[in-house]
Amino acid sequence: MLSNVLVVALLSTSLVNATIPNAMSGGRPTPPKIPAPKRNMTSPNGTALPPITEVYYFDQLIDHNNPDLGTFQQRYWMSWEFYEPGGPIILTTPGESNADGFEGYLTNVTINGMIAQQQSGAAVLIEHRFFGYSNPYDNLNEQSLELLTIQQAIDDLVFFAQTADLPMPGGDQVKPDQAPWILIGGSYAGAFLFPGALTSWTMLNKPGVFFAGYSSSGVVEAITDYYGYFTAIREYMPQNCSSDVQAVIAYLDRIDQQGDEDAIQGLKNSFGLGSLTRTDDFASALRQILFSWQDLQPNVGPGAKFFDFCDALEVKDGVSASATGWGLDYAIYAWGNFFQATYYSSLCGNEDAELCLGTSNASQAYYTDVSINNSDRSWMWFVCNQVGFYQVGPPQGQPAIVSRILRPVYDESRCVSMFPNKFSTPPTPSVGDTNTDYGGWGVQINRLFFANGLRDPWREATVSAEALNKAGTDTQPIYEGDGFHCSDLSTESGMLDESIGYVQMAALGYMRTWLAEWSG
Ligand SMILES: *[C@@H]1O[C@H](CO)[C@@H](O)[C@H](O)[C@H]1NC(C)=O
Ligand SMILES: *[C@@H]1O[C@H](CO)[C@@H](O)[C@H](O)[C@H]1NC(C)=O
Ligand SMILES: *[C@@H]1O[C@H](CO)[C@@H](O)[C@H](O)[C@H]1NC(C)=O
Ligand SMILES: *[C@@H]1O[C@H](CO)[C@@H](O)[C@H](O)[C@H]1NC(C)=O
Ligand SMILES: *[C@@H]1O[C@H](CO)[C@@H](O)[C@H](O)[C@H]1NC(C)=O
Ligand SMILES: *[C@@H]1O[C@H](CO)[C@@H](O)[C@H](O)[C@H]1NC(C)=O
Repeated sequence: MLSNVLVVALLSTSLVNATIPNAMSGGRPTPPKIPAPKRNMTSPNGTALPPITEVYYFDQLIDHNNPDLGTFQQRYWMSWEFYEPGGPIILTTPGESNADGFEGYLTNVTINGMIAQQQSGAAVLIEHRFFGYSNPYDNLNEQSLELLTIQQAIDDLVFFAQTADLPMPGGDQVKPDQAPWILIGGSYAGAFLFPGALTSWTMLNKPGVFFAGYSSSGVVEAITDYYGYFTAIREYMPQNCSSDVQAVIAYLDRIDQQGDEDAIQGLKNSFGLGSLTRTDDFASALRQILFSWQDLQPNVGPGAKFFDFCDALEVKDGVSASATGWGLDYAIYAWGNFFQATYYSSLCGNEDAELCLGTSNASQAYYTDVSINNSDRSWMWFVCNQVGFYQVGPPQGQPAIVSRILRPVYDESRCVSMFPNKFSTPPTPSVGDTNTDYGGWGVQINRLFFANGLRDPWREATVSAEALNKAGTDTQPIYEGDGFHCSDLSTESGMLDESIGYVQMAALGYMRTWLAEWSG
């Protein structure tokens, strides 16, 4: 859902500024935007609450390593619809997104509100530093972004919990030693932002700030060469479509290896991309449609972009291909046709292919614009420095729906174009340090509930990664439903899909048990 929003956001920007290449945003590990239901809320005794979109501001430290630098205003939202004194404070951040529109995470259309409802808790949504309008400085240049680190973001949450006086009655009496705090995060925020991913570190430094946690699709292991993004997609997309995409990609990789320029030009022409200079940019253009898989949720059905794509490839004269697909020639024809007829304009508008899909021109606004409220840019900073997650082709010997021409260095080069004052050569992100500091797959946190989805493209970076076989325990349970990315955060998804509903019921059970153990 969110990447849809992003593409739309980028598209509308591109109408104003024709130099922004839309196709550069890959998949971001971020929870879906879930809006709040449109109804007026009251507290349990019937008192009207402020509108749920009311923004509150917290004076957050600019730099937790140097408090003398002062504070900036960090935006947050909250609801005490279900709150009774003694109840928990349920905190979440959407992570790397502008938090506007995520107010559903304050109500029972999400697991957050279901926990609040069950436990008589209050729900808080806080915007992550350097996203939306919560910025230490009024720009996103390299110097400012030095303060965008996972550690600063964790320290923000801790400092907020320890010092914020919440705008509800009694809200100055709910510090972590007075009320249990529960941290809920989806995706990136469900992975790295739990203070104490390392048990020893928590015990030594931040004892008991968050009493319990819920991590949805938490991408706990930072991975530079994250070809695993496409594993769940390849496995769960319509198999005929998967076969045909593999055929086209295998052909591209073969003619590229052979250096057959005529064949490469011919293939580009079939997609209307004859003017695109670089073959890796062409391979990247073919990768783009696959990101729309991340928009899928149990409540998203026919008409979703990903399914339109597979229908275009597989349904010929009302008949759809068997699992092996139609084969290379028809696949090139049908995919190329789909790309030219509908997909290109949804991606690039009227923009020229090189401007929209090329990555070489470092003068483009996509790279040079340092104004705030640009999630793509702030997330790229994390990507280039700490988490990688480059969504590239798989190693030889594995089936590929994305070209093997795309290696991490293709995306790493964009780090140089975007942050020239930081990088002069394609940087390798420090994923080793990230995994050591925040636990990685070895994460062990008391009272942390992991919820994952079988069809999630981020699954391979979670504790439910296929080959990992990590066992859940009573203090750190691991549940997996049949859902997509962060599906279990949505109440509706749990109603539509029994396996997701089961995960949610389990989480509610654990929260009840754990909170009963809280003694202040
Ligand atoms: C919500 O409250 C506003 C102002 O208090 C009022 O105008 C509106 O009719 C109410 N809406 C509903 C659905 O009750
Ligand atoms: C109702 O709850 C609000 C807090 O939501 C509190 O300020 C108010 O005093 C309560 N009123 C009664 C009659 O309990
Ligand atoms: C969600 O909260 C509303 C308002 O309090 C309530 O009417 C509704 O029944 C709740 N939904 C669920 C699924 O519990
Ligand atoms: C073939 O593709 C169509 C269209 O996307 C899909 O509905 C169908 O389930 C696929 N069938 C097989 C066997 O993969
Ligand atoms: C690179 O982008 C800049 C800014 O949009 C533009 O003025 C310039 O013509 C582009 N250069 C090439 C070679 O396309
Ligand atoms: C800020 O970004 C969001 C999307 O992330 C967009 O919807 C909103 O319009 C932007 N605000 C402004 C003032 O451009």
